[in-house]
Amino acid sequence: MKLTLKIWRQSGPNDKGRMETYPVNDVSEDMSFLEMLDVLNDDLVRQGKDPIAFDHDCREGICGSCSLFINGEAHGPGRMITTCQLHMRKFKDGDTIHVEPWRAGAFPVIKDLAVDRGAFDRIQAAGGFVSVNTSGNLVDGNAVPIPKDDADKAFDAATCIGCGACVATCVNSSAMLFVAAKVSQFALLPQGRPEAERRVLAMVEQMDKEGFGNCSNTGACEVECPKGISLEHIARMNREYLVASVTKE
Ligand code: SF4
Ligand code: FES
Repeated sequence: MKLTLKIWRQSGPNDKGRMETYPVNDVSEDMSFLEMLDVLNDDLVRQGKDPIAFDHDCREGICGSCSLFINGEAHGPGRMITTCQLHMRKFKDGDTIHVEPWRAGAFPVIKDLAVDRGAFDRIQAAGGFVSVNTSGNLVDGNAVPIPKDDADKAFDAATCIGCGACVATCVNSSAMLFVAAKVSQFALLPQGRPEAERRVLAMVEQMDKEGFGNCSNTGACEVECPKGISLEHIARMNREYLVASVTKE
C-alpha cells in the first residue's frame, strides 16, 4: 500500500505545532500502525531528518502508552483495540491518514505525538491503592469470600490501562471514566473498603486539580475505551463520592 500521512509535528511544549505531510510506500497490511510509523521514521533518519516522536512500550495492548488520534478517532478505527493492535489492513491503498496527539489541557504535548499523562499517575498516587503492608506473612487471597459478580466487575474495572483515550475523546476532556475505573476496582472488594471514603475523595480532588473537565454523560469515553470500561463505573464512583462527602469526619 501507498499512503499519505498528515502528522502533527511540534518540537516541544512551547512550539505552536503544525500538520506535515509524509508519503509512505511499501506498507504491508499485516503491519501494525506503530510498525508503519517505524518504517516512516527509518526513512526520515536515513534522510537526516528528525524522526516523529510517539509513545509506545508493550505493543500488545497492555501498557496504555500508544496514544494517537487517527482520522479523528482515539486509537483509530476499530473498537476495543489500542493503536498498537490496529493493523494497516483497516486502511486502503492510496488513503490519506491524519495522525494527531491526544488533545487535552491536562495532557500537554511533550513532542510531536507524545503527551505528558503524568496527571493520571498523580491521581492514582492520591489514593488508587490499598495501604496495607503485605510484605511477609501473606494471607491467602482466596481466604476472603467475594461474590463472583463483584469479583468480575472489579476485574473489569482493573483492566483500565490508563491510556487516556476517554479524556482525549470527551468534548469536556473529562477523566471520569479513568478515575471511576480505579475507584471501582477497590470499592467492589472487601480489601478496598477500609479506605474507600478517603480514596474517592482524594482521587476526585486530584482529578479536579489536574484541570480535567466535568462529565456531561455523552458516553463517547465508553465507545472509544479500548478495554470496554463501562459508564456503570462512573455511576458507582458518584455514589461512593456522595456517601463519602456526607459521612466524612
Ligand atoms: S478508561 Fe479506558 S480509555 Fe480511559 S484510560 Fe482506562 S482504558 Fe483508557
Ligand atoms: S504500546 Fe502498550 S498498549 Fe499499545
